[in-house]
Amino acid sequence: MTTSGTTSSETGGTTRTRRGVGILGTGVIFRAYARGLSTQPHLPVLRVADLDEDRARAAAAEWDIPRIGTAEDLLADPEIEIVVNITPPGAHAALTDAALRAGKHVYVEKPLAATVADAERNVATARETGRLLGGAPDTFLGTAGQTARTAVDSGLIGRPFAATSFVRSSRAETWHPEPSFLFRAGGGPVLDMGPYHVAALVNLLGPVERVVSASSRPEQQLLVTAADKRIDRVDVEIDTHSTAILQFASGALATTMYSFDVWDTELPHIEVYGTEGTLAVPDPNYFDEPVRIRRRGEREWRELPAAIARTTPEPPHPFRGLGVADLAAALDGEPHRTSAEFALHVLHVLAAVQEGSLDDGVVAIPSRPRRPAAVAPQA
Ligand SMILES: NC(=O)c1ccc[n+]([C@@H]2O[C@H](COP(=O)([O-])OP(=O)(O)OC[C@H]3O[C@@H](n4cnc5c(N)ncnc54)[C@H](O)[C@@H]3O)[C@@H](O)[C@H]2O)c1
Repeated sequence: MTTSGTTSSETGGTTRTRRGVGILGTGVIFRAYARGLSTQPHLPVLRVADLDEDRARAAAAEWDIPRIGTAEDLLADPEIEIVVNITPPGAHAALTDAALRAGKHVYVEKPLAATVADAERNVATARETGRLLGGAPDTFLGTAGQTARTAVDSGLIGRPFAATSFVRSSRAETWHPEPSFLFRAGGGPVLDMGPYHVAALVNLLGPVERVVSASSRPEQQLLVTAADKRIDRVDVEIDTHSTAILQFASGALATTMYSFDVWDTELPHIEVYGTEGTLAVPDPNYFDEPVRIRRRGEREWRELPAAIARTTPEPPHPFRGLGVADLAAALDGEPHRTSAEFALHVLHVLAAVQEGSLDDGVVAIPSRPRRPAAVAPQA
């Protein structure tokens, strides 16, 4: 079997072209990609690169990845067709641009880039080079996201007119060894966790037209207490508590609160309110949790049957890579659901939430992508 582009393998009854993958960044989320991609035999990881060579070497040894080296080595490797960019947000744009210009297709972790201007430049480079660019999150492609999507599309809650979406604190300073990127431009609850929420909402309700928001910064510095910490304190360089109203092109209104500062809350993750019922959507950071519904006239909440097969293997563990498989499938002619246009729209909305203020008022969102195609149940 060759390593790139010329042979095919069977995945879930579908023929997939084999394409070599290279991963930039072997930090905290790397393992989730290594695990997820190990379930996609047509997408072998052939090389990893990290500024910290020891980290790259350890990752390669653990996951039986044949080659390590610099980012430049990875981009020059002719057997790599797809580059997975899972470096911190501030490094995304330059590496994505270099990878596209090296002739690679690229899948980037969220946010697409740390700033809208950088992300727009990346999308332009993808067009210019004729390479495919895709971006996280991919969780809306999972069982919960697609079960909610089927419920909305089949009219189970009538016409959706509103939603709520709440990011509770992730307290990254307690578990991430180097959480600085989460507390500077490109991070924060809005750009770090907000992508899961806004992608889930756009998947269900379509694109966002206008945003009004306000943000604050309750803490200036935090103590890092992660067991494997590489720094002692982290300066909070951006607002970490934001609240917003999103108006969708459909007319639906979402109320959001994205916070790193709320210690605990009993607020739901996402709820969608329709003229005939309410949908309770589980944490959009995950794939397989149950979706619940309570329709007009029903006395209790009930769990909806899953619309597609379970996404992640048992037992549950951090899992990523569906978006890389989505990009590869798009290269084989299928719809590109985690497209750069979709990820850019999500970033446009999140930037408006992060940067908006009550003084500035309403921000018009400049992009209007279609909703990603729904995922069909496996035959
Ligand atoms: N940590 C999580 O739970 C999580 C979950 C989902 C998504 N993400 C996203 O994944 C990305 C990475 O997050 P992380 O937590 O793994 O970060 P991390 O800091 O743990 O790891 C990033 C790695 O990238 C390397 N790196 C930085 N610049 C580089 C460059 N120019 N070339 C090669 N390597 C470089 C760093 O040395 C580091 O090892 C971010 O975009 C984040 O939003 C993280």
